[in-house]
Amino acid sequence: MKVATKQLIRPIEVETGPVMESIIAEKDVNLFDYPVPQFYPQDGGRYIGTSAYLVTRDPETGWTNLGTYRMQVLDEKSVGMQILKGKHAKCT
Ligand SMILES: Cc1cc2nc3c(=O)[nH]c(=O)nc-3n(C[C@H](O)[C@H](O)[C@H](O)COP(=O)(O)O)c2cc1C
Repeated sequence: MKVATKQLIRPIEVETGPVMESIIAEKDVNLFDYPVPQFYPQDGGRYIGTSAYLVTRDPETGWTNLGTYRMQVLDEKSVGMQILKGKHAKCT
């Protein structure tokens, strides 16, 4: 972790780029349009974010954290995450 974060590269905000080529407006988003797999027979549903990461910031100290948490599709527009006790992103 120390090696990976030794020289941090600041993000540069740009007006456009390849990531902006396909935009779906919020009202048109339907998570069931994507081929989201159920990985294991006993999974409670389909997980769209197994290799995704979540960036959180402590509102009081400003400390920023990055962690991986599985992200389950709940309905057309919602996902749920279970952040286990003891993880930095868990605030209570
Ligand atoms: C593929 C993958 C999925 C993970 N899913 C979860 C999850 O759903 N919930 C969770 O609490 N931790 C999950 N973890 C573990 C956390 O990412 C790991 O403990 C991480 O260190 C948490 O960061 P934090 O303690 O800084 O919050 C997952 C890890 C990997 C590699």
